[in-house]
Amino acid sequence: MTAPRALPAPHATPLDLGGRTALVTGAAGGIGRACALRLAAAGAEVRAVDRDAAGLETLVDAASDLEGAVEPHVLDLTDLDAAELAAAGTDVLVNNAGLQLVRPIEEFPPDVFHTVLTVMLEAPFRLIRGALPHMYGQGWGRIVNVSSVHGLRASAYKSAYVAAKHGLEGLSKTTALEGAPHGVTSNCVNPAYVRTPLVEKQIADQARAHGIPEERVLSEVMLRDSAVRRLIEPEEVAEAVAYLCGPQASFVTGTSLVLDGGWTAH
Ligand SMILES: NC(=O)c1ccc[n+]([C@@H]2O[C@H](COP(=O)([O-])OP(=O)(O)OC[C@H]3O[C@@H](n4cnc5c(N)ncnc54)[C@H](O)[C@@H]3O)[C@@H](O)[C@H]2O)c1
Repeated sequence: MTAPRALPAPHATPLDLGGRTALVTGAAGGIGRACALRLAAAGAEVRAVDRDAAGLETLVDAASDLEGAVEPHVLDLTDLDAAELAAAGTDVLVNNAGLQLVRPIEEFPPDVFHTVLTVMLEAPFRLIRGALPHMYGQGWGRIVNVSSVHGLRASAYKSAYVAAKHGLEGLSKTTALEGAPHGVTSNCVNPAYVRTPLVEKQIADQARAHGIPEERVLSEVMLRDSAVRRLIEPEEVAEAVAYLCGPQASFVTGTSLVLDGGWTAH
């Protein structure tokens, strides 16, 4: 029997992404912005992708004192060829951009369904496709897909979003299997409702779809299944993303890090 091997590194190693590049999509707002700032604080050169040029400028300002840097890249991710090109050469890829529409299926506009699937599933595929050759070449890469509790559970009136997130879970697992021999991990993070513009914008739609006043949406719809009765903050999600990029998580791949306040414990 061989002797047990010592663990290679202290497990409290802080995240050091000095010399690494990271691409974050949807970086102009909410969770993406928090991820871009967290990775830049760890020393990464962050390529911040979004279609919102003004939002990216405020991110660049916010990052000016951090150890790494943020380079804005204005891009609409429905341009799939451009998305794939933008990912070339990155060491860390955070697929985060997303959008939401809350409607019953029979009223759900097919063109919106198509856009949601394009931005939230097909663009991540193309970004991963663009990023892998460099990651494989150097034997190291980190892919984090910002999924959702809706990657694991459905809610009424969110057909496109739930379909896209369930698809993203499958894409992430397949990437993990193919990437493992090349030192590339791929995981999802799965928050419940986060305090971001995406959530604020859907309160009116949720009220209409559920037939209740807007002031009851938070407690009766969004927090209904959460044992922890609050929204999660974008910075808490960014911390989970940072963990998955760090040395402590090199054995963590093909899985989903669920930050749902106990929702899926039901
Ligand atoms: N907010 C939540 O409660 C919550 C919960 C679970 C998962 N998520 C996921 O987190 C991710 C970020 O959501 P958020 O809440 O920060 O939303 P947000 O609306 O604050 O940010 C989304 C960003 O994506 C960008 N974006 C949208 N479409 C784009 C396109 N075609 N091209 C380029 N950029 C585009 C937007 O401009 C925006 O900056 C999404 O994937 C979302 O599904 C959010």
